[in-house]
Amino acid sequence: MSSASQAPADPLNVPRHVAIIMDGNGRWAKARGLPRIEGHRRGVETVRSVTYAARDLGVKMLTLYAFSAENWNRPKDEVGALMGLLELYLRKELDTFVRDRVRLMTVGRIEGLPRGVQRLLAATVERTREFADYTLVLALNYGSRTEMVDAARAYAAAVGAGREKLNDASWDSFAKYLYTSGMPDPDLVIRTSGETRMSNFLLMQAAYAELYFSPVLWPDFSKADLAAAIADFARRERRYGMTSEQLKPVAAAK
Ligand code: FPP
Repeated sequence: MSSASQAPADPLNVPRHVAIIMDGNGRWAKARGLPRIEGHRRGVETVRSVTYAARDLGVKMLTLYAFSAENWNRPKDEVGALMGLLELYLRKELDTFVRDRVRLMTVGRIEGLPRGVQRLLAATVERTREFADYTLVLALNYGSRTEMVDAARAYAAAVGAGREKLNDASWDSFAKYLYTSGMPDPDLVIRTSGETRMSNFLLMQAAYAELYFSPVLWPDFSKADLAAAIADFARRERRYGMTSEQLKPVAAAK
């Protein structure tokens, strides 16, 4: 983490895929003596602004952790309110996504969401399918561990059906069965609100991601905060297990 006043970001080094753990809605509300749901409502506004901020800054794919598989354990009224906000958000956003050519995709056990939400998601995903320049991915009822179990099950079924050979198993052949099949891995994972955990979010996909922790609570997270995270990313050297010296010829050849 660092301030935006340091060296400027290299425009060629903007992360293609940014994934965000949106945290701090409850604390934002509590600090103002408001109910938690007000924090979530403001959080939805930030979802809207950050979706466009990321695109303006050159990001191609933005994944937002909107509802985790563990979030069902929250009080019933909060879960209901979050699902209500999600439904309202999707209703309002469908035409905007089409107008602005934003492709919507999802990751998670979508079949576990309320039927109304599932229908809206399916319609939005379908109507925005052709847009290739910018993609918003909502992680809903998502958890890395359930994703692994679902993928292992699907992979085993494919082996049983003769579509995969166990002896040929590799990360690439297995990754086709993840919810994220066909998506690039995140380059940068941001968590807001000062917490420094991954919370079961894209654990395998983030194997080589850069991590950035912002103290800002999600409802207050601005385009400038996102730009600071991207500038920080642009100054880092990603070595993928190699040495700095090994990477120099690769960088020089670019
Ligand atoms: C964490 O805040 C945030 C969530 C539980 C999920 C994020 C949800 C939204 C931004 C609203 C719904 C999203 C969409 C796309 C409609 P927290 O409640 O854990 O905050 P706290 O740690 O301060 O209590």
